[in-house]
Amino acid sequence: MPAYRSVSFKSKWVKTKWLLADEALEEYVPWTLPFTAANLAKILSRHSTVYFKPTGGTGGRRIIRIARQGEQYTTKLRHTTRKHAGAEALQAYLSKKAASEPYLLQQEIPLVTVKGKPFDIRVMVQKTSEGAWTSTALFMKIGKSGSVATNYNQGGKIGFFEPTLEDAGFRDDEIRRIRTELEELGESVGALFDRHKSGFRELGLDVALDNRGLLWILEVNTRPQFYPLKKMSDRTLYRKIVSYAEQYGRKK
Ligand SMILES: Nc1ncnc2c1ncn2[C@@H]1O[C@H](COP(=O)(O)OP(=O)(O)O)[C@@H](O)[C@H]1O
Ligand SMILES: [Mg+2]
Repeated sequence: MPAYRSVSFKSKWVKTKWLLADEALEEYVPWTLPFTAANLAKILSRHSTVYFKPTGGTGGRRIIRIARQGEQYTTKLRHTTRKHAGAEALQAYLSKKAASEPYLLQQEIPLVTVKGKPFDIRVMVQKTSEGAWTSTALFMKIGKSGSVATNYNQGGKIGFFEPTLEDAGFRDDEIRRIRTELEELGESVGALFDRHKSGFRELGLDVALDNRGLLWILEVNTRPQFYPLKKMSDRTLYRKIVSYAEQYGRKK
């Protein structure tokens, strides 16, 4: 078995800039700025809820949701909610976090819910042995109700694509449109990433669906995890991903 041959690239900010520089993909990206005091004020003047995420983070760790109510701000980190008396107090709190690593600010995309639980979508994109990007799997990451992040290791669950959208009230024709759009999105992002750096063989897009049916790319992972799919009673998707992954030396 060959070694795991797919390049990893950590900076969410650099990857977001790649997306923003592409005319067709730019419209899928929520407003994102590097964290600074000035950018915090700027984004909060336009959006009452904003995400604060470590630029090199994974697994939903250290992500904070900021909500503005007039002069008051509330932050939520995992299960902890804090109130901040004003913009300066908020900025001091966030700056302390950002002293040890860079952070991004991103407008919140209100996630569609299923039975009261927010979910977003993973698009698994993998290269064939001929080098063609293929969207091999779509699945849902369903968070706990009220959770900041839907990630599996933040207590999220995995759901299948069609059944989740059906339970969330989407019609069959909408579900088909969303599937096609996501698959095309995955393959376009693959082609774009190849233009910036060589060696990618797999990518995992985290895509939010909002209540207007619009899709938003929250981030692109270069080491997308799919082991939670192995625990599902139907392992068809898991096996499909592995069959592609084996071509570049990844076993699980
Ligand atoms: N802008 C946003 N709007 C709504 N939810 C978000 C936003 N950014 C992140 N999230 C939530 O947090 C999760 C983790 O964020 P993500 O950017 O994927 O970072 P990580 O690398 O930690 O997974 C997302 O899957 C989503 O549930
Ligand atoms: Mg993610």
